[in-house]
Amino acid sequence: MSMHLNRNYLKGFMADHELEALSGAVKTAHETLHGKTGLGNDFLGWVELPTNYDKEEFARIQQAAEKIKKQADVLIVIGIGGSYLGARAAIELLKSQLYNNLKKDTPDIYFAGNSVSPSYLQELLSICEGRDIAVNVISKSGTTTEPALAFRVFKDLLEKKYGAEGAKERIYCTTDKARGTLKELADREGYATFVVPDDVGGRYSVLTAVGLLPIAAAGCDIQKMMEGAKAAQDAFLCPDLMRNECYQYAATRFALHQKGKAVEIMASFDPCFAMMAEWYKQLFGESEGKDGKGLYPSSVIFSTDLHSLGQFIQDGSRIMFETFIDIQKPKQDFFIEKDPENLDGLNFLADQEMSNVNRKVMEATILAHTEGGVPAVVLEVPEINEFEFGYMVYFFEKACAISGYLLGVNPFDQPGVESYKKNMFALLGKPGYEDRRADLEARISK
Ligand code: PA5
Repeated sequence: MSMHLNRNYLKGFMADHELEALSGAVKTAHETLHGKTGLGNDFLGWVELPTNYDKEEFARIQQAAEKIKKQADVLIVIGIGGSYLGARAAIELLKSQLYNNLKKDTPDIYFAGNSVSPSYLQELLSICEGRDIAVNVISKSGTTTEPALAFRVFKDLLEKKYGAEGAKERIYCTTDKARGTLKELADREGYATFVVPDDVGGRYSVLTAVGLLPIAAAGCDIQKMMEGAKAAQDAFLCPDLMRNECYQYAATRFALHQKGKAVEIMASFDPCFAMMAEWYKQLFGESEGKDGKGLYPSSVIFSTDLHSLGQFIQDGSRIMFETFIDIQKPKQDFFIEKDPENLDGLNFLADQEMSNVNRKVMEATILAHTEGGVPAVVLEVPEINEFEFGYMVYFFEKACAISGYLLGVNPFDQPGVESYKKNMFALLGKPGYEDRRADLEARISK
């Protein structure tokens, strides 16, 4: 039994008949998705990816990951948005948010090219000093400025350190199979290349080479991950809303949104979930947030945020609902011993696993927040492993697509991302943007 949607805490916020009333709309969304008749239907490769993935490339990914493990102390993964979030989410969830500090036989993994921070880049370069490096540069378009700039720096570093021939053995490119600057460069230089399929958009690409190569280099079992995704593909195939928990999650979000809830907060009780929540935010934010529509996806890690945003959630504007992630079996547990002196008065917590305490924190929080007027659903995740990660990824991807179609938007494009790029190119003097530049410079407040 994998992830389960618990809707019991919706009592008083949303009646069962309100969910059932969405059965027709959900069935239509299902038919639109599976019939490939909806907006963005060029980008549905992820739907059957767990069955139809390229097995030959999958084997090459596993081989490349083994090579990286042998040749590198540090793997630099260069990418932005959908080209890095899934891999980082998987590594932090399955290994640790402290992955780089663990004793291990796999390389440290750092992510670059997701900002233009000179300080971060300098810090990363200094971390690389005296260590063996490999680089996985990931860009579907092959032209995104932030990763392209970072790649320029690391390509130069590798060439200086290992020579052009040596660098070639340490650079792995994940990009379009035929087009783009990165593909051209990779072919010219003879780098190993992996493909972002044409019909899989960036934020749906974690189960392609985009995510799989860095995840495998971190020592995760990517075969199990695909098996988990396949199990979810099968589990959420049924068009009947009342028999499909993935669709129930999508429909519940939609119904709560219609009742004025503008924000979904994904709440988890383990910091290893923090990057998974970042991945979810990109998936739903880029997919739904357009044409003046969409829920704003946000996230908290409890207990940490119970002592910051917890106040707002309990007591502030009633604009949100919460989606709790209940990890039922942590990766590791910790037994709390009794202290004979009990000076801190904490012996009431003793003689039990810390996961029990964390569970009580979760139950206490759900009850407090629902009492404070915040509807809650709970996604019960039996345990953290590769299979469950693959299952969860597919669950959220499909829920997101159905949510987008329920809202009447194209869940597979991201036109809004272009606006800042055009302004950035103009302000930085990219040829072809001269007219816009003068206008923008006049508008910048000095
Ligand atoms: O989901 C998306 O499509 C985006 O977030 C992209 O992944 C992101 O913009 C990076 O694009 P690219 O892989 O082309 O560099």
